[in-house]
Amino acid sequence: MRAEDTPLIRLEDYRPSDWLIDTVDLDISLAPQQTRVRALLGLRPNPAGQPGAPLILDGDELALSEIKLDGVTLDANAFAAGPQSLTVHAPPRRGFTLTIETVLDPSANTKLMGLYRSSKVYCTQCEADGFRRITYFLDRPDVMSVYTVRLEAAKAEAPVLLSNGNRVATGEVPGSDRHFAVWHDPHPKPAYLFALVGGALDHVREDYVTADGQQVELAVYVEPGKAGRAGWALDSLVRCMRWDERVFGRNYDLDVFNVVAVSDFNMGAMENKGLNIFNDKYVLADPQTATDGDYASIEAIIAHEYFHNWTGNRITCRDWFQLCLKEGLTVFRDQEFSSDERSRPVKRIADVRTLRATQFSEDAGPLAHPVRPRAYKEINNFYTPTVYEKGAEVIRMLKVLIGADAFKRGMDLYFERCDGTAATIEEFLDCFAETSGRDLSHFARWYEQAGTPTIVASGRYDARAKRYTLDLAQTTPPTPGQATKQPVVLPVTLGLVGRDGDLPLTTGSSAYAGDGLIVLDQPSLSVVFSDVAEAPIPSLLRGFSAPVRLELDLSDADLLRLFSADSDSFNRWQALQSVATRALVAAGRPGTDRAVLLAKAAEIAGALEHFLREQGLADPAFAAQVLRLPAPADIAREIGGDVDPDAIYGAHRNLSGAIGQALEATLIGLRDTLATKATYAPDAASAGRRALRNEALGLIAIAAPEAGARLVEQQFSSADNLTDRLAALAAMTLIPGEAREHLIGRFAEIYASEPLVLDKWLMAQALIAEPGTLDRVKRLMQHKGFSLGNPNRVRALIGGFAANLTQFNRADGAGYEFVADMVIALDRTNPQVASRLLGSFKSWKMLEPTRKDLAQASLAMVARTPGLSRDVADIAERALA
Ligand code: BES
Ligand code: ZN
Repeated sequence: MRAEDTPLIRLEDYRPSDWLIDTVDLDISLAPQQTRVRALLGLRPNPAGQPGAPLILDGDELALSEIKLDGVTLDANAFAAGPQSLTVHAPPRRGFTLTIETVLDPSANTKLMGLYRSSKVYCTQCEADGFRRITYFLDRPDVMSVYTVRLEAAKAEAPVLLSNGNRVATGEVPGSDRHFAVWHDPHPKPAYLFALVGGALDHVREDYVTADGQQVELAVYVEPGKAGRAGWALDSLVRCMRWDERVFGRNYDLDVFNVVAVSDFNMGAMENKGLNIFNDKYVLADPQTATDGDYASIEAIIAHEYFHNWTGNRITCRDWFQLCLKEGLTVFRDQEFSSDERSRPVKRIADVRTLRATQFSEDAGPLAHPVRPRAYKEINNFYTPTVYEKGAEVIRMLKVLIGADAFKRGMDLYFERCDGTAATIEEFLDCFAETSGRDLSHFARWYEQAGTPTIVASGRYDARAKRYTLDLAQTTPPTPGQATKQPVVLPVTLGLVGRDGDLPLTTGSSAYAGDGLIVLDQPSLSVVFSDVAEAPIPSLLRGFSAPVRLELDLSDADLLRLFSADSDSFNRWQALQSVATRALVAAGRPGTDRAVLLAKAAEIAGALEHFLREQGLADPAFAAQVLRLPAPADIAREIGGDVDPDAIYGAHRNLSGAIGQALEATLIGLRDTLATKATYAPDAASAGRRALRNEALGLIAIAAPEAGARLVEQQFSSADNLTDRLAALAAMTLIPGEAREHLIGRFAEIYASEPLVLDKWLMAQALIAEPGTLDRVKRLMQHKGFSLGNPNRVRALIGGFAANLTQFNRADGAGYEFVADMVIALDRTNPQVASRLLGSFKSWKMLEPTRKDLAQASLAMVARTPGLSRDVADIAERALA
């Protein structure tokens, strides 16, 4: 497939379906190579569609074995069937049934879309358009049906048979080794939410009673022998269900809720109605095989998929252009849940780091697109940081702008009004316009306009008049297909920080909405504050109130004041990051003076020393975030053009090394104070202490390799949990030499039979910032635990390498060539994994000319490969445009 030959699907071309499918009765007889699917579809003309239209059902690599209309076999000339579609030329102009039989080979399905097998377990993935790989269907989210599913399989092979909804019957198939289960889901749903699972699985379960009194049986299914690692996921499920009742007033709506973990999965997890299917990486956890980060991700993703039950399933999307309606909103909901379960400022800092690293970089490159794209060739390429993370930021801004109360009532109205429908962004926003009494048409521009806005801010203090004037201006850079930009609505939360904390804010400005909120919806504006008793330091975008870049010319001295005195934790963290960023941006450009960087290191170390002494122990999770400098990739993005990754990495190493040296004694002391004899517990407070200790370990490893290596050895040997072991390994990867290779070997021995832990081992090595890494990665591809067929292994090793700033971007282009070759190889079996990997090239245009040419050549090599999937062709074409 050449991308140029693929049709462009446009939002403006949306039309309702000519036909509706009210009921779907599936009868699926599972067998490894020959699974028979019989579908009975209850069809009727859509009153909103074209009367008398033919019925054109979607398919993907399907083979039809039988078709009947109202129970009567169709004449060969009454229909046309191919792998990609099934057309009934002149269907009756009334309701009728269609019986369709297809035969599938789940064992041969390497794309992991539709029905496939993962370590012998039958499972499905249908979002966005995988259901058409199971049977011919109107595979679009605005066609919603009530499903009844009969599953049959050999008892020995698949003792567990699951589908959506409630189980209504089970039994033996007389005279055979087979059994069956019948599932009925009373809630109409689009085909992308269909799922089945069949296999030998263990489970853990718990009874739950919803706030409105319904009994629910919760269960988490895992591979045999792994039930001991399913408890955290089940615990997280119970907590997020209670939270959704309390915070959003949402109750669960079926008798059962099942979660199944499989080891081959393209994405993180999927919200199929009543039967969430997960990448096992986001379910399995015990202290020996999961890190604190894993525990936090599991909690967040269990919540995310559960929250989709209301935001995505009961209210789904009219079409895939509305994807952020479910994904952005559900990310917002899972972020709020994690904030409430853990620390809000720390969660916010982590989310903003992710936003900047993934979304800002996407927005700054050739793959930039609006939160609601206007056109696509391959929808799977639009499950992006822009749709997800920026989509969540837009909801967060909406809440700040209209206030928590109007936001809450808007959500309630949305749930009430749109329940059971396939909705649009407009319908969603209308709810908030009503409850807030505001016109949100200008705000809606956030969904249409790509690119990260920049706010340029400057302040002036008039001591005689006791007036402080703040000038704000916004611009958004051009993005592909959008040369000129309009101003957007920007909530700027602020404080004016004086000697003794926040000064009172008094202004008559119409842009001031009270409570420290300025709404910047013009190209520029000035706000004059009166009765300002002293020259303040502005603290802008508190809590990161808008997803923008901020240019505010504060001196380092003022930033360091904010770091110690701002009442907003996010901005305290941001202030120190800004000081470090500025120093690194300067040092990452050619011809800079090392002495200047070292002087800055001393200043930052001084501030950190004071901070750690006064407050390091009060909130270790926050302190760990403070101690972590912006990553080299953040600096590359900040520089934005003519980027030399080696220069940036060198500067980063120098700054970290100098800070680490200045703080060595403090860090070692801190590590001792934070050490504990208590056995491992995954709670946020314990995790925070480990995070700070391990952040300190990393700095020591850079600053004092010998002392660092000794501490690493100690920690590795005495650790009772994976978090500390892995942190030791990661610190050791910064110290070249025998000892490192020895530790890498020890780690592999300990975890030889733990694929998910070996993924971390693969990734830690793929991220080593040394010229030998490419060869190391190629060698690791031969490791017995590695396989190109498993998405987790590929993401760990090859994806890890593609995220290695200096080695992927090697000056000789060998990094690009390797990743491009891998993309082409993977594309033959799994286009989705291949196209996500190709996304690693998204920032190639910001590189210095030599690397830029080499990256472009590798992209072009991919683009001209014959027989590319639509997924890869689309990314290659857009990245090169
Ligand atoms: N609906 C998605 C899963 C999905 C993604 C299906 C892409 C088809 C294509 C699911 O709700 C989701 O968003 N999963 C995320 C994790 C989540 C916590 C952001 C994922 O799989 O990465
Ligand atoms: Zn989602």
